[in-house]
Amino acid sequence: MKVVIVGSGNVATVLGKKMKESGVDILQVISQTYTKALELGTALNVPATDNYGELNTGADIYLLAVTDNSIATVAAQLPELHSIVVHTAGSVSKDVLQGSFGQYGVIYPLQTLNRQISTIPEVPVMVDGNTEVVKETLKKFAKTWAEQVVVANDQQRLTTHVAAVIVNNFTNHLMALTEDFCMNEGIDFSLLFPLINQTVNSLGTMPAARLQTGPAERGDISIIDKHLQLLNRYPALRNLYLKLSESIIIHKRKNSMPDI
Ligand SMILES: NC(=O)c1ccc[n+]([C@@H]2O[C@H](COP(=O)([O-])OP(=O)(O)OC[C@H]3O[C@@H](n4cnc5c(N)ncnc54)[C@H](OP(=O)(O)O)[C@@H]3O)[C@@H](O)[C@H]2O)c1
Repeated sequence: MKVVIVGSGNVATVLGKKMKESGVDILQVISQTYTKALELGTALNVPATDNYGELNTGADIYLLAVTDNSIATVAAQLPELHSIVVHTAGSVSKDVLQGSFGQYGVIYPLQTLNRQISTIPEVPVMVDGNTEVVKETLKKFAKTWAEQVVVANDQQRLTTHVAAVIVNNFTNHLMALTEDFCMNEGIDFSLLFPLINQTVNSLGTMPAARLQTGPAERGDISIIDKHLQLLNRYPALRNLYLKLSESIIIHKRKNSMPDI
């Protein structure tokens, strides 16, 4: 498959490298900022431009890896294409491309992608297309470079994106706040790494709720109070501690209620 990558940010860079490693024929990188287009083009060893007039029209797939709110603007700047045009967003309908192209869809990478990170991660992807042929083509194409490929419609992709934000972005935010807390309190944050890894590595061995430990799970209100007092100087973290403890207690209560 011949591919043109539109954009030069996190997704364009990491997926570009992943595709290249798997032998996908990347024809060109095109992106609004010339220096960034050139940087990615150089990394992938392909021509780069910031001029849509110079778009290589010989690709089978055009990957629009641009911000959610610029997908429509970028699509409107592309010439008529008889190939497949896809975007990479979790929460944008594939139909944002409907008015511009005959064959369109989505390749949504279900992974946190950051161009600064040197190791290329495992990437499951969700694909969708406006026809069965497009879906099948995208599925086949994605299988050549992604570890896992599933077909998912707009609603399924949106729902998965919500789940991904919660398990990844929110968890990482908790870690960022805790890292600051540890630093302020003179505690080595890295001492917690084995604990974090143990929780993540245990996922899948049993339901996540059964992996839960800690004062809220045990219903130990006196320890929770002690912790909340210590957190008085960290209102954001204190608020989350309180809300999450309440959620753990409610979830446990609901799950242990006898069936009537
Ligand atoms: N990063 C992730 O973990 C991840 C995972 C799954 C899906 N996604 C989705 O993938 C898409 C790209 O995300 P990203 O993380 O790669 O974003 P990003 O790193 O911010 O890169 C965005 C790209 O869009 C370009 N762009 C922004 N506004 C533009 C405009 N008006 N016209 C033309 N190009 C424009 C940027 O160009 P400049 O740099 O020159 O401004 C840049 O090349 C989004 O739909 C996102 O939801 C991201």
